[in-house]
Amino acid sequence: MKASQQTHLVTVDRIATLSPTVREFTLRPDDAASAYAPGSHLPVEVPVGERRTVPRHYSLVGLPGDGVWRIAVKHLPQGRGGSRAMWRLEEGDRLCVGAPASHFELDHRATEVLLLAAGIGVTPLIGMAQALAARRGVRVRMVQVARAAEELVFSELLAEALGDRLHTVVTGTGQRLDLAAELAALSPQAQCYVCGPASLMAQARHAWVQAGRAPVDLRFETFGTSGAHPAQAFTVKLPRHGLTLDVPADSTLLEALERAGVEVLADCRRGECGLCAVEVLALEPGTAIDHRDVFLSPAQRAAGRQLCACVSRLSGSPACAVLDSSYRAD
Ligand code: FES
Repeated sequence: MKASQQTHLVTVDRIATLSPTVREFTLRPDDAASAYAPGSHLPVEVPVGERRTVPRHYSLVGLPGDGVWRIAVKHLPQGRGGSRAMWRLEEGDRLCVGAPASHFELDHRATEVLLLAAGIGVTPLIGMAQALAARRGVRVRMVQVARAAEELVFSELLAEALGDRLHTVVTGTGQRLDLAAELAALSPQAQCYVCGPASLMAQARHAWVQAGRAPVDLRFETFGTSGAHPAQAFTVKLPRHGLTLDVPADSTLLEALERAGVEVLADCRRGECGLCAVEVLALEPGTAIDHRDVFLSPAQRAAGRQLCACVSRLSGSPACAVLDSSYRAD
């Protein structure tokens, strides 16, 4: 968390296990829990060791109220360690968090909305579903996708808000998301909000363009952590800065560059805006780029000349690349 950000101390009030892989954490701040817009996230300093924390962002679940903030965390055994550390927390533990923020805002002029969520991507869409359901004259439908029925977390809460406007798809039982049919049922002015793994974003973008819809009406957020390979430590060389950096498995390249004092532009830190993209000058034989962003096009990924430092990583043996930050002071 940057020093300039407002911080709050919170107590973990309640931990609820919602499925074999998802836990909900109710956080009670020492000061007042500020309100937030549906789709907002909470920056959390996750304790990963004695006196060591790593920054993570978790979507706020539901609409604000009750003087608490609720987040849900999917356990990712092969992730960078944030979720494992969150799952080690106990009720009564204390955390440092930032103020709620949003990069995924609901357009209040929308009259027809399709919400599309997969896995833990349901979290930012819950508040949106509740807000839209309460709004008069808005047509809303939500499709929630999960591998198993037990992973349809928050579906009861969603059904309460949406009734039969909630449709669930359990892929493990052979059900399939028919995106083309979902989009065909929408009016030309409809908007679609998507949250889930990068593969869902890619599918949704493709189907949206194929349907001839305006790109501005497709809005998305991803969790940027679902790479093709488990997170591993890797090395980057930056000849322009005379630096060689080891990036631990529980850190992002962007964090490592910032720690080393290398200027890199960044905004979303979730693989969406592309601002943090660095140039790949060379890859050691045996090294592959594990692109985890939703910004670069398939052609840019295939070219392997750029990677988004906030989420993408290197994998292989060795895992080493020569990079240059795109930032130039002049
Ligand atoms: S900061 Fe937005 S893609 Fe990395």
